Parts: sequence; C-alpha cells; structure tokens
Amino acid sequence: MTNGTPVHHIPNQRQLFDIPDDVAYLNCGYMGPLMHSVVEAGDRGIRAKARPWGIAAADFFEDGERARERFARIIGADAEGVALVPAASYGLSCAARNLDVAPGDRLVVLAEQFPSIVYTWREVADTRGATLVTVARPEDDDWSRATLDAVDERTAAVALPHCHWTDGGRLDLVRIGARCREVGAALVLDLTQSAGALRFDAGAVRPDYVICAGYKWLLGPYSLGFLWVAPEHRDGRPIEFNWIGRAGSEDFARLIDYRDEYQPGARRFDVGERSNFILVPMLNAALDQLLEWGVESIEATLGARNADIAARAACLGLGSAPAALRAGHFLGLRFPGGDLPAGLLDALAAERVHVSVRGASMRVTPHLYNTDEDVDRLFAALERVLG
Ligand SMILES: Cc1ncc(COP(=O)(O)O)c(C=O)c1O
Repeated sequence: MTNGTPVHHIPNQRQLFDIPDDVAYLNCGYMGPLMHSVVEAGDRGIRAKARPWGIAAADFFEDGERARERFARIIGADAEGVALVPAASYGLSCAARNLDVAPGDRLVVLAEQFPSIVYTWREVADTRGATLVTVARPEDDDWSRATLDAVDERTAAVALPHCHWTDGGRLDLVRIGARCREVGAALVLDLTQSAGALRFDAGAVRPDYVICAGYKWLLGPYSLGFLWVAPEHRDGRPIEFNWIGRAGSEDFARLIDYRDEYQPGARRFDVGERSNFILVPMLNAALDQLLEWGVESIEATLGARNADIAARAACLGLGSAPAALRAGHFLGLRFPGGDLPAGLLDALAAERVHVSVRGASMRVTPHLYNTDEDVDRLFAALERVLG
C-alpha cells in the first residue's frame, strides 16, 4: 500500500497525455511529458498573470504549501522539510554549503554519476581541501556493495541516486544510510531519476538531504523541483537571501520591517520567486495524479513493462543489469562488445521511436502512456538497425 492505495497494475493512461499514436516515447528518463491536466493548470496560471489584480498575497504561499505536502507524501517525509528549488544543482548547492567538511575528509560519488552532482562535489573538495572518492562501476552491477566498501570513518559526505542514471542500477539506500550514520557521513540523495516511480521512504533511509528535479518522473514542468532537508539541518544557511523566506513575509505592507528570523521548516532554502504562478500549479496537478495512481503501483506496472522489454532484448543479444540489482522503472540495454551501433538514435528517431544513450547504455524508460504497440515498434526498429 502507498498512501492507502492498494498496489495494482495500472491500465494504460495514454488518454491523459498528448502523445500521437505513431510516437513511441520511451524516454521519461530524459523528460516526462505533461498531462493535459498539467497543461491546463499552466494555462490557468498564465491567464492569472495576465490579470494580476486577481493575484492575492495568499496566492504567493498556498500553492507552494500544497507542493511541499504532495512531494513529502511521494518520498515518505514531512512537508515542513521541503523547499522549492529550480534545479537539482540548486538543492545540491544548499546541501553542499551546509556540509561539515574538514581538510583531508573524503567525499564519495559514483563513477559516471550525473554531472551536476560530480561538479558540486568537486567544488566542495577543491574549496575545503577534501578528497573526492569515485566508486568504480562494479563488474557485477552491485553498486550497493561497491558503495559500502568506499564509505568509512574518513568519509564526510556521500552523494547518491536511488538508481544510476545510465542504466537503472539500484542502490540499497537503507543499508547505505545505516552505514553513513555509523561513520558520521552525511547522506545526500539525488532522486531525480526515481522519485515518483520507485518507492522511497525517507523515514527508513534517514538521509540528510534529498534533491529532485520535477521534470522527469514527477511529470512536472521544467525548472521546478524539490529539496528535502532533515530536521537537524533546517537551521542551516541558504544560498540566497530573499524576502519571502523571512518570518512575517505574508504581511506585504511590513516587508521593510526587516527580520532576521526565517520562515519555519526548510522554507529558508526556497529559491527566490518560488511562488511561480504557472509552474507550481502545474507540478501540483502532476503530483496529484501520481498520488492517485500510487508510487508502488506505478513501480509495479513499469517494472512488468521493462521485464518484458529486457527479455525481448536478450533474444537480440542485448544485456542489462540483473533484475534484482536494477530499478524496475529504468532499463539500460547493453550491446554486444559494449559498443552502440553507429547512428542508432537517429535511426530509431526516424521511425518515431525515442530512447536515449548515456555512457554505454541505451536507456529505455517507459511510463504509463506506453502501449504494447510502442514496444513492438521499438523492437521492429532495433531489428532493422541490428540487421
Ligand atoms: C540523475 C539526475 N540528476 C539531476 C538531473 C538534472 O539536474 P539539474 O536539475 O541540475 O539540471 C538529471 C537530468 O538528467 C539527472 O539525470
């Protein structure tokens, strides 16, 4: 059960999206498409901004509070800890600013991890005299064991995804979280490629910070995402100092009575102009639908879809991480010899089949809008490319 919804296989939901029949869009890991309900929420926001005399002071706050509450339910956390951020990198910078890192400490990342994470950790290492430790890609796909081997008493902070963005390799964050607490390392998670499609329970993992861009598996607009901050870090320093993050900002007439105190919870980390009257209602509409489906049911449905794709791919000689070590919603296909055929993506796109390539993997990331016909089209196109 997630949020009281029994786990079940969700029937096809393409009618909620604007995807033509002849497009096989198997690329949610690149960008989630917007549902009609999300586009309509955006339209309403644009129209409201055209007539700003209808925008009240309360409108600067209420939709943002709804977004905090909804995202908190998706990750099993409390809404007080949620901040609204424009990008995963922004949330990561908030975390980085507040990390306790001393010269000689170690910071851990994974090989081939998403660049925004690696660049931020490099910056922390450079400016505070720490050493960056990169966990090598394990030959047996067991990222959890490889990561646990790399975390010890010298580790100040670990930045991890729930699944690797190139091929869906999954990490056991409950075990890794326990190890981080044992050695006193901060655990910073980037759930951009998993939240909304892979169950996550902040109460069980106990991370220090969670970041998540909203435009992939949360099916939201671009340029709005979340940062969740553990209670013990909520008195940290934000990376910018805006008016709305201060106590009493609801009273516009008294904003010049400058205040040192912040809004409660993690609101101090909100980006400036976070009351985006277009993007926030859009993201709320998407989160409402995700919560109605239930994350566990989404995971189960996409897991079955990808198990079928992996089995069919194996018949063509394409490999993938073992199911037990891979996130159900996220499949990376590997070609014989490790080389992707030249012109692969263009050849598939010419047949209106959309996937992506990251590192040595062809990522196949379906969602509830995908049909059996989409998968047949993928394999018909692949067979032609492979000759
Ligand atoms: C794992 C992961 N994290 C984060 C992002 C987005 O990062 P940012 O919001 O900093 O652009 C992506 C985008 O592909 C991603 O795959």
